Parts: sequence; C-alpha cells; structure tokens
Amino acid sequence: MRYITLGQDDKELSEIVLGMMRIEDKSVKEVEELVETALSVGINAFDLADIYGRGRCEELLGLVLKNRPDLREKMWIQSKCGIRIEEFTYFDFSKDYIIKSVDGILQRLKIDNLDSLLLHRPDALMEADQVAEAFEILHTSGKVRDFGASNQNPMMMELLKKEVKQPLSINQLQLSAAFTPGFESGFHVNMEGNKAAVRDGSVFEYCKLNDMVIQAWSVLQFGYFKGNFVGNEKFQQLNQVLNRLALKYSVSPSAIAIAWVLRYPAKMQAVVGTTNPKHLIEASQASKVNLTRKEWYEIYIAAGNDLP
Ligand SMILES: NC(=O)c1ccc[n+]([C@@H]2O[C@H](COP(=O)([O-])OP(=O)(O)OC[C@H]3O[C@@H](n4cnc5c(N)ncnc54)[C@H](OP(=O)(O)O)[C@@H]3O)[C@@H](O)[C@H]2O)c1
Repeated sequence: MRYITLGQDDKELSEIVLGMMRIEDKSVKEVEELVETALSVGINAFDLADIYGRGRCEELLGLVLKNRPDLREKMWIQSKCGIRIEEFTYFDFSKDYIIKSVDGILQRLKIDNLDSLLLHRPDALMEADQVAEAFEILHTSGKVRDFGASNQNPMMMELLKKEVKQPLSINQLQLSAAFTPGFESGFHVNMEGNKAAVRDGSVFEYCKLNDMVIQAWSVLQFGYFKGNFVGNEKFQQLNQVLNRLALKYSVSPSAIAIAWVLRYPAKMQAVVGTTNPKHLIEASQASKVNLTRKEWYEIYIAAGNDLP
C-alpha cells in the first residue's frame, strides 16, 4: 500500500480509503470483518458521514469499536456534516449545527475525537466566520484534528480560508474513469463548445496548488449514483481496456479503474465503497499499479471522452 501525508502533523494515510456509506444493512460482525480486512491490507483511512444510513453507518462502526477498542489507534476516522435530511434535504454550515453534528458523530462512533471533519456539500448561506468559530471550538477542545471540504469549488474554499484558522487539508470530489467533468474543460481550453465550459472552477488544479488531498469518491461509478461501470455492457470499450490492463498488471479490472484515479499527479486518495472484504482486497491492489501516461489516456478515451 502506498501512503500520502495529510494535515498539520503529516499523518501517513493509505491512498485507498474505505468508504462506509453502504454498510447500513451489515451486521456488527460483518463491519468488524471489513475493518479488519482493510487494516490487513494496509488501509488505515475510513470515511463516513453523519447522514450515511441516517447515522446507522457511524453507529455500526461505533459498536465495532466498543467491542474492539484496540482498533481505534490503527484507524484514521473521518466524517462529514452539513447536510440536513428533514422533510426535505438542505445544507447547514451554521456554527451551532456543525458543533451539534460533531457531538452526534462522536457519540455514535463512541470515540472522543475525529481525525478529520469535512463540510459535506456547499451551503449557499454559509457565513465563513461561523464556520471558523465552530472549527476553532472543535479544534481547541480536541474533538477534531484536521478539517476539509467536500464538493466545494475554489472560490468557496477561498471564502472559508478568509476566516478559518485551521488549514483546509482535503477536498472530497467525485471522480472516476467514467465521471470526468472536472478534467474536460482543462482539455478543451480556448475552444468553442460546451466542453470548454469551466463549471468547477478548475478545482483539481486548485487542490494541487494548495497542496490539498483530493479524495475521489465513487471511483467505480458512472453518473450520479447510476451504477458500476466495471463489467457493465454500456461501457464495452472501457471494459476491454480495463480487462487487458488487468491481465498485464495481474490485478482485477476494478483495481485498474481505481489506479486510473490514483494516477492523477496530486495527493490522491480513492474512497472505495465496497462492503465485501474480497472486493476490498482486490481494490487495494490498485495501489501497486502505476499506469503509464499512454494507458491513462487510453482509459480516458475508452470511457467515451475525446481530446482536441
Ligand atoms: N463526499 C460525497 O459527497 C460522497 C458521495 C458519495 C460517496 N462518498 C464516499 O465515497 C465512498 C465510495 O462511494 P461509492 O460506494 O459510491 O463508490 P464505489 O466504490 O465506486 O462503489 C461501491 C459499490 O460498487 C460495488 N462493487 C462491485 N464490484 C466491486 C469491486 N470489485 N470492488 C469494489 N466495489 C465493487 C460495491 O458493491 P459490494 O459492496 O458488493 O462490493 C458497492 O456497491 C462512500 O462510501 C463514501 O464514503 C462521498
């Protein structure tokens, strides 16, 4: 497993993160097995959010940690807040809501502190000074070590940085071989047509410039939760390339798809959302693959993209 460094104390984190959004229906024993499997292949980073399973995913990991407190020190645990699911879903980055959310997260996880907290989805009504106050309280009380954002564009992060004292170490963004809007405008700069439109404010380049870790989510999905593209007949050309490279590198096609994300030259992590220990072991093998530039582009094009 390869590792990146993150945050104020350069914590070493695996480039594969276990995303725990889909564990809601698993038993405590199954979640324990998944965590043990992750640790056994060198994965030490775990991603949650307060809304996953409406809190159930955090609760399940909390029950694992209650039975197995020895696991905590081996794990870097991240969660997110800021999405409120009530009669309808909306976003809330107010000071009181952030602080209350973290208390709920810690209670469900049965731990005293979070290694990292991300603001889940941008709140247009965000007042950065409120976020700053919340982060300061959470940091000085020892409840949260590192902070970051998710799905935020550069100007949103600049707004936050104007007030927030702690570094924003992470941006968690959707990226997969079959989901690349963030790269398209970069390839089509100075050209006519929609592909040149900069919709995300060059967020990938911004994260690199600011030495932020990019955590790619849904690395095997196409569209917005439209399904897995690996082995999917809608992506025949892509799967042909993934299968060929899987043979070349002696890993699974999914591992090649994950290696594609990790090949982007930034501090990259791939958040993998499997709930199946076997799939997790396969995914972890992405970390031993270093795709060539030509292979990276071949996958990009086989996914249906074009270059000028
Ligand atoms: N910040 C955000 O807004 C945001 C949004 C969505 C997700 N996330 C984070 O990203 C994580 C991953 O998201 P995701 O679950 O959509 O992404 P994913 O890793 O692309 O997809 C996981 C799904 O693919 C299936 N799968 C099938 N074959 C697989 C294989 N060989 N290896 C791995 N998975 C395989 C898994 O099923 P099995 O369980 O059967 O393997 C699971 O249903 C989440 O857990 C969450 O932590 C963040």
